[in-house]
Parts: sequence; C-alpha cells; structure tokens
Amino acid sequence: MCTFFLLFFFVTPNQCMQCHFGCTCFAATNTVRCDSKDLRAVPLSIPGYARTLIVTGNNIPQIGPDSFPELENVTNICLSNNRITELGSHTFSSMVSLRSLDLSGNPLALIHPEALSIPGGPLLELNLSRALYNSTSLTDLTTAMRWGGLAGLVLLDLSGNRLALLAPAAFSRLPSLRHLLLPHNSLASALGELGRLGKARVRLGGNPYLCSCESRRFAAWLDSSAAPRVEDAEDVRCASPRELRDAPLRVPAGEASLQTSYALLGLVLGFVGMVSVLVLYLNRKGMKRWVAETREACRDALAGYHYRYEIDTDPRRGPPSDGDGVGTGRFGTAPPPRITPDTRDGGQTPADVRLTGTGMAPGN
Ligand SMILES: *[C@@H]1O[C@H](CO)[C@@H](O)[C@H](O)[C@H]1NC(C)=O
Ligand SMILES: *[C@@H]1O[C@H](CO)[C@@H](O)[C@H](O)[C@H]1NC(C)=O
Ligand SMILES: *[C@@H]1O[C@H](CO)[C@@H](O)[C@H](O)[C@H]1NC(C)=O
Repeated sequence: MCTFFLLFFFVTPNQCMQCHFGCTCFAATNTVRCDSKDLRAVPLSIPGYARTLIVTGNNIPQIGPDSFPELENVTNICLSNNRITELGSHTFSSMVSLRSLDLSGNPLALIHPEALSIPGGPLLELNLSRALYNSTSLTDLTTAMRWGGLAGLVLLDLSGNRLALLAPAAFSRLPSLRHLLLPHNSLASALGELGRLGKARVRLGGNPYLCSCESRRFAAWLDSSAAPRVEDAEDVRCASPRELRDAPLRVPAGEASLQTSYALLGLVLGFVGMVSVLVLYLNRKGMKRWVAETREACRDALAGYHYRYEIDTDPRRGPPSDGDGVGTGRFGTAPPPRITPDTRDGGQTPADVRLTGTGMAPGN
C-alpha cells in the first residue's frame, strides 16, 4: 500500500509529465504529436526532451504566452489547422530555440504586434499559408514584421491568403529573407515590394495576373538581375484580359535573346568605330599625305577633262553637231563618252559633260 502510494506520488506525476493524454510521445525522435484530439488548448505537460511539437486538427481558439511554458528546447512547432483566431502578445517568447513555426490553415484574425517576437530572434521559418483570415490580419502581420524580432527569418510562406497587394516596406525588416512564397493569392499586378528583396527567391505562381503593357515591363524586370529569382516562372500566367488567359507573363526566351543580340551588335559596332577613330588618329600624317595626293590626282584629272571640254566646245572647231551621234569619234583615239538618253535630247550642258566625262576618263 505504502509502496503503491509512493509510486503514485513519485512516478505518476512524472508519467503525466511524460506524455499528455491523447498525445503520442517519441523519446527516440524527441517528438510529441497531438493530432485531431479536439484539444481546446495546447497541452501543458510536454516532456523536456521534446524538440518537435505537432499539435494539429484541434479546436484552440486562441494562444498566448501561457500556452507554452518551459519549452525552451523545442525547435519545431506545428500548430496547423487548429482554428486559432488570435495570437496574443509574446506568445512564443519562452521558446528561445524555436526555428520553425507552422501556423498554416488557421483563420488568424488578430495578431498582436509582438506575438511573433522571441528574444534572440531564433526563428528561421514561418508558415502562414492559408492563415490570414482577412485584411485586418494582414495589417497585423505587416506591423508585427515591421516591429522587428523576425530579423533572422529565412523563409516566409504566405501562399493561399487572397493577398491583393503587398504593403510598402512590408519585408524591409526581414534582412535574412531568402525564400518568399506567394503562390495562390490575389496578386494582379506589379509587385514593387519585391524590388527590395535582393537575393531572395520568390514563388509567384497561381496569382490572377492582369496582363498589360505595365505587366510586360514587370516581366522584363523579373528577368533582370535586379529582381529576386522567381522559382516558378512557368506558373506566373495571365488571368486577364480573356484573350491572354493562361499565357505566360514572362518575356519569351527568344525575344529576350534577340534583345541581347541587338545589344551585342551595338557593342561590336561601337568597338569597331572606336578602333577606326583610333587608327585614323595614329595615322593622321599618312592620312594627310593620302588626302593631298588624292586631291592632286583629282585636280589633274579634272584639269585634263576641262581642257578637253574647252576643245570640244571651241567654236573654232566648227559648229557642235546636234541630235544623233553627238561627240562620236570627236576625241580621236579616246573612246566616245557614253551618252545617256537624257543628254541625247537635252543637248550638252557642262554638267552633263562632267558627269559622263568622269565616268569614262581614262586617267591620263
Ligand atoms: C533543455 O535541454 C537541456 C540540455 O539538454 C536540459 O538541461 C534542460 O532541462 C532542458 N529543458 C527542459 C525544460 O526540459
Ligand atoms: C506550409 O504549410 C502548408 C500547409 O500545411 C504546406 O503545404 C506547405 O508545404 C508549408 N510550407 C513550407 C515551406 O513548408
Ligand atoms: C476581420 O475579421 C475580424 C474577426 O472576425 C473582424 O473583427 C474584423 O472587423 C475583420 N476585418 C475586416 C476588414 O473585415
């Protein structure tokens, strides 16, 4: 009897602390699960070895700092689908080792600005997929993110929240963010906030994008190096206008490479131009000589021709024949100038002569 009493006193309370009724505790994997047990609160008796706590499918309307006493060693907590509507101030403050928090599938309507802040900012992953009940909770979350305390966050899942726009500077206090998941929201147009994300990777698929000229610029920007990398670019498609439904928003690869090749061509031409100018500059003495020689040669040729023209039109050499056979055989050994149909009828003006003459001058 005494032994039993002792056993009751010293063992049973420990047993209670070992595993809450309805939960399953796995000491080997440091995991405690409390799935779909219609719990009204997070069990308080969680064994000290627990690193992973999974409480899902229950009916827990609100959680606060009193919900998680002495869980300093828990690194992962999954609280999905518990119908949680309210996160109180400093709800997770005691969980100083917490790295991953999953609140997905809860209709969160009220999020205290400091609900997610934990001393030391240990949190790396936050899953709020299908967890924002309405625009009030989005505003609350934005405030919570701006208040800080999430500086270490690397992954943020905001998928399936009917988000229509992203608040300005919403992610500015998340300097470590590398993965931002925004699929299956109501984002319709350019997402200016993404410009601040630098090296992060984002997922944007399954949103009802409105395809316009502006979204084309957005698509081009998505392809530029300034934008965060879009991991699911194939799923970023137009929802409207109707003619473009399901068309990829992204600039087709061929068009992009054409633009690249134009840029390359421009670069090459610019380079060639620069080299030519340089060569001309270095060779300017030789160039001067060449220009002088050419000018000299031209002058000689012209002078020679002028001389012929004067002979040709010299009244002392008889009246110039008109009509057919103009100038035929009049140059002696030199071949006759080629006569175009215009000059044939219009008579010989000096301009006509010079034109045909330069064409056939043998360069005497
Ligand atoms: C957390 O882990 C440390 C070291 O393993 C242990 O000493 C401490 O008792 C644990 N905390 C709780 C609340 O069990
Ligand atoms: C977030 O939770 C949803 C629903 O539980 C799940 O499908 C998704 O994979 C989770 N996200 C991440 C990044 O693990
Ligand atoms: C969001 O839901 C909460 C709880 O139902 C409500 O108090 C609040 O007014 C709602 N906000 C909007 C913008 O509808």
